[in-house]
Formats: sequence, C-alpha cells, structure tokens
Amino acid sequence: LLLQFEALQPEGICPGWSIVVKGETSSSSSMFEINLLCEPGDQIALHFNPRFSSSRIVCNSFLNSLWGQEEVNNTFPFKAKEPFQVEIYSDQDYFHVFINENKVLQYKHRQKNLSSITKLQILNDVDISSVEITKRGL
Ligand code: GAL
Repeated sequence: LLLQFEALQPEGICPGWSIVVKGETSSSSSMFEINLLCEPGDQIALHFNPRFSSSRIVCNSFLNSLWGQEEVNNTFPFKAKEPFQVEIYSDQDYFHVFINENKVLQYKHRQKNLSSITKLQILNDVDISSVEITKRGL
C-alpha cells in the first residue's frame, strides 16, 4: 500500500461538507483508493476503490475489523494518465460521489457518527494535485 496523501480533520466531517480530490491516474494504473477513516482505531467509513482491471468502482466500509458488503458500480469514467476530479459530498444519510462533476454513486452511511470521521487517506496508483474540504450546505 503506497500512501499518496493524508490529511487530518480532528473534529470530523459534517453533513453539507464536500471533499474534492483532484489528481491524475498513473500510466500503469491498476487501482487507487480514497479512504475516509474513523475513530476509534483506523476503521474505514468509506473505501472508494476504482479498479481498472474490471472497470468498476468498489465501495465498502471496514468496521469492527471486518469488510462489509461491497457496493459495486459499473460506471467507470477514469482513464489511465488522465486528470480527474472526485467530489465526495456528505449529507445526513449518504455520501454522494461525483466524478468530473457527474453524479456516479451514493453510499448510505454505515458509520453514522460523521464527527468520528477524522482522516482522509489516498493510496496507490494516482498522483494527487489538490485536496479541498468545502462547505456546500444541505
Ligand atoms: C478486498 C481488497 C481490499 C478492499 C476490499 C473492499 O478484496 O483486498 O483492499 O478493496 O476488497 O471490499
């Protein structure tokens, strides 16, 4: 696992906030992941994992030391060596994921306590140019 980016938001996230990640996939892209980690421990509230090998996006959570049920999406707007933007907008009930400003999926919160989601990690075959947390409102 190659850590490409990490940021802390000690007070956690709030409904109405967005995380906007801009980057470029690497030429030999096989997969990358954006993880929103929650306390206690490094549990994963949202694992967002585009897989080039199957042209699918796999989302899941890792809570209580176990992966849950995968939510697999067949929309795959990523291409090797191309810039992209992923926006993860959270409301009370869902993460809404937009890729290049198009809504691609939503993921019902499994970690319902959003204030425990305090860390962002981005791993593997990707070059990150910017990460921004912005308040969109509800
Ligand atoms: C596993 C994989 C993990 C994670 C998980 C998601 O097969 O090893 O990295 O992607 O699937 O369900």
